[in-house]
Amino acid sequence: SHTLIEKLEKTIENIPDFPIEGIQFKDITPIFLDPKLYEEVIEDLANFSRGKVDVVCGIESRGYLFGIAIAVALEVPFVLIRKKGKLPPPFVSEKYALEYGTAEIEMKTGQLKPGQRVLIHDDLLATGGTTEAAAKLVEKQGAIASQFSFLIGLKDLHGEKKLEQFNAEVYSILNY
Ligand code: PRP
Ligand code: MG
Repeated sequence: SHTLIEKLEKTIENIPDFPIEGIQFKDITPIFLDPKLYEEVIEDLANFSRGKVDVVCGIESRGYLFGIAIAVALEVPFVLIRKKGKLPPPFVSEKYALEYGTAEIEMKTGQLKPGQRVLIHDDLLATGGTTEAAAKLVEKQGAIASQFSFLIGLKDLHGEKKLEQFNAEVYSILNY
């Protein structure tokens, strides 16, 4: 039978030169047309983290697509990391660099407890700026960024370098 990696490689659509020339856009939405494949993805990501984390944090918006299901599979809480301007206070925030300009993410305070081991999950590790900022939000609250997981890692962009400071395990199902 086909491995999970083979199934995902066939299912994820590659769109060249989107949103700008030279970028290979990976469309993960066909995964949601195949509930059995979705279940396999969750099982694989949950296996990476089982027994190793107390909480899952997912990053708005595509980090929610798998993050909540990972948390449910692990029977641990899920905490949302949101894009700027959505949350009422109190929250912590962290800026990060984009190719042009900056962005900011925020997390409601009080849901993460000091010392908790956190899985930070997102669909994609590209430059790593988003995930690095997420881990800083986690550590601002005294929790520990213990693991990072992704569906896809883009090796050429060296996002893992930005995550080395956290001394955490990093896993991507697919690497391009
Ligand atoms: C994309 C992707 C990751 C991030 C990766 O999110 O879902 O969250 O970029 O990029 P980086 O590693 O270079 O920081 P995007 O901000 O496009 O928003 P979305 O998840 O709401 O679609
Ligand atoms: Mg995203």
